[in-house]
Amino acid sequence: MSKLLVISGASRGIGKSTAQLFQASGYKVINLSRSPANLEGVLDVSADLSEPRWINHVRDELSNRLEGIDEIALVHNAGVLVKDKVGELPQEQLRRVLEVNVVASSMLNDLLIPRMPSGSSIIYLGSTLSEKAVPGTASYVTSKHAVVGLMRSTCQDLAGTGIHTACICPGFTDTEMLRDNIGDDPEVLEAIAGMQTYNRLVEPEEIAQAIFSVSQQPVFNGAVLHTNLGQVEN
Ligand SMILES: NC(=O)c1ccc[n+]([C@@H]2O[C@H](COP(=O)([O-])OP(=O)(O)OC[C@H]3O[C@@H](n4cnc5c(N)ncnc54)[C@H](OP(=O)(O)O)[C@@H]3O)[C@@H](O)[C@H]2O)c1
Repeated sequence: MSKLLVISGASRGIGKSTAQLFQASGYKVINLSRSPANLEGVLDVSADLSEPRWINHVRDELSNRLEGIDEIALVHNAGVLVKDKVGELPQEQLRRVLEVNVVASSMLNDLLIPRMPSGSSIIYLGSTLSEKAVPGTASYVTSKHAVVGLMRSTCQDLAGTGIHTACICPGFTDTEMLRDNIGDDPEVLEAIAGMQTYNRLVEPEEIAQAIFSVSQQPVFNGAVLHTNLGQVEN
């Protein structure tokens, strides 16, 4: 049986761990991002998902790789997080975040769903901020709420196709995105770690495991799963 993972944003972080795990489990892997994953055997297709016409540059290359594939796992992982707030939210910034975090996933869906055999899966990366907001991340919060809507619509619109979907919502995971956002101050890192009941950050490999498990089990169809080690409520 020939299995294929198509994933966005596997050049680092959660995406890279996910690509490695699927590859170790027998999947061919195609990554879409601006910089390559540089993993042996992984096909890197260069794409800037913030550019509205990126799909035109990858359509042929992706389509040619789908021949003879029995199962496709499509993982919408690429994401961008910027600091901004309601009332001072530059339109261009909001559009760019929505392009990468939401619109690109929909474009990939349109390209791939008609070619996805029964037994395939579409996994979205949401966030704790898919279901709550914190100050100063308005465009990201907006986009991650939209991801849940897109996943739920995927579940409804693909009923009967044998393709299942779910949204994995990581908590504080130790990647470049988190480090860029909170910096390297040990005291801040310790405080963030203390917000989990395990008193540590989530490892990208743990999120990859969750993505893989959910992709294998249609019973999760339509589910929003929080993978955050249990966040401490004050
Ligand atoms: N880390 C966390 O704490 C956390 C928490 C909740 C949710 N998440 C979600 O988990 C997913 C992965 O996050 P991460 O922490 O692994 O982030 P990361 O380390 O910053 O990696 C982000 C990935 O997205 C790709 N990407 C960003 N902008 C892109 C663009 N314009 N075009 C194409 N690819 C682009 C990057 O590739 P290039 O730069 O090479 O293009 C990179 O591979 C994201 O959806 C994020 O929102 C993360």
